[in-house]
Amino acid sequence: MAPHALLIPLPAQGHINPMMQLAWKLVSHGFLITFLNSDSTHNRIHKANTLNSFFDNIRMISAPFEFPPLDSLEGIENRIESLIKGLGPSVIDKVIQEINAREEENKVTCIIADVWMCFGLQAVATLHELPLAAFHTALVSLFAIRYFSAHLVSLGILHSDGIPKEDKKTKYLPCMPALHSGDLPWLWAGEYMFRKGIRMGEEIKDIKWVLFNSFIEIEAPVVETLSKEVGVYPIGPLIPPEFLIDSRTSTKVLPSFRKTDTDCLQWLDKQCAHSVIYISFGSTGILSEKQLEELALGLEATQRPFLWVVRSDLMKGSEANLPVGFLEQVRDRGCIVSWAPQLEVLSHPSIACFVTHCGWNSVQESITMGVPMLCWPYFADQFLNRAYVVDVWKLGLPLNANSQGIIKQGEIVKGVEILQESEQGLEIREEAKKLKIIARDAVKDGGSSWNNFNLFVTAMKRQPNE
Ligand code: UDX
Repeated sequence: MAPHALLIPLPAQGHINPMMQLAWKLVSHGFLITFLNSDSTHNRIHKANTLNSFFDNIRMISAPFEFPPLDSLEGIENRIESLIKGLGPSVIDKVIQEINAREEENKVTCIIADVWMCFGLQAVATLHELPLAAFHTALVSLFAIRYFSAHLVSLGILHSDGIPKEDKKTKYLPCMPALHSGDLPWLWAGEYMFRKGIRMGEEIKDIKWVLFNSFIEIEAPVVETLSKEVGVYPIGPLIPPEFLIDSRTSTKVLPSFRKTDTDCLQWLDKQCAHSVIYISFGSTGILSEKQLEELALGLEATQRPFLWVVRSDLMKGSEANLPVGFLEQVRDRGCIVSWAPQLEVLSHPSIACFVTHCGWNSVQESITMGVPMLCWPYFADQFLNRAYVVDVWKLGLPLNANSQGIIKQGEIVKGVEILQESEQGLEIREEAKKLKIIARDAVKDGGSSWNNFNLFVTAMKRQPNE
């Protein structure tokens, strides 16, 4: 009987992508995969991707629950709570019963759920005598700061609602870089997110396998510290193997929430090596009209080629509004798309640097492709990711906002010039080349993530009574 994993992602783009990568990897190890979504997310993915080999290999199913995709942050608290209930333990129990009744030969043999979907799930796993693994799609450090946050309250470093007592750069955990007080990952959603993070830590502590889409080499002190408390298994970077060699011939494009514009790849083919600035704010980043204008003017002022992902919902409140005359001015050296094939873009030889919102997938993809970053975080873990990129790994520079919270065009021009022209930029580019190799080695035979993944796969393939 083939091992059959039920995968339960948090249905947001930044969480679905790494779960899909994990699904592919498990398929190549002989697993059957059932990938569970809410109806609304399931339909959205199928609408945006009519033909995709992912669907031939992975069973996509959905539960009758309408969950608006987490592309915007409106009402996040209610939406997360409704999600946790809508795809909660009783629904999962029913899904497993239905699969097992239908497929005598291919019953579910294990459950892998996003850490956000694990609330109460251990009881269902126990009921069906299945191993449960939690999947954390970002840095181990993100989980660690949440996990130890109650302790930070008891030490008097945080107020009981998660707000830091002192407004200064602080080393909250000895194993992590210092963070500005405003950088803590729960602050954007207040006490709710703080409490939820603590609850998540309590829930996950009892789960034997906690997989992380990260690799030990980039955050070894945190992995060592957290491993004393939790079963930490970094298995990243979860990037398709064909992107881990420099001369690939074909690629699997994962189904995404939006239609991907691949024409930009032909445009990139026409640009000089290491010349193009790539700008993307992931699936959630939002700019004010003023900020969008400054960015456009900054790109114009760099006088360099650029590829910019302008999602239809990139601007707060309305369709993205580019400055009058901008498109005309940059016609010969600018390419604008609404959704890019990001892995192909980052691995293209013409890319020089990545202006990124520091979503974890984007950062890890950039590391694995050796692309230096200009960091423009917006919410959640993105500030923490920036601290690592800038202060620890030395792979990029921060873009700093002025007193009105705007990153001015001059700051963008300066950042690009330092990266491309200066001694400091050269050092950053050299570090990017080194970490690219370390990232790829982690998932190669015998690498740290390869070892963890194989341990996990072997354990999941074992029959319950073996
Ligand atoms: C969200 C949060 O913003 C982020 O902080 C958290 O770490 C994960 O969840 P998101 O905003 O979507 O993520 O950013 P990111 O984590 O970078 O994921 C975006 C994914 O979409 C990446 O895998 C990227 O390759 C892909 N993408 C993005 C595209 O394929 N095309 C695009 O044009 C933009």
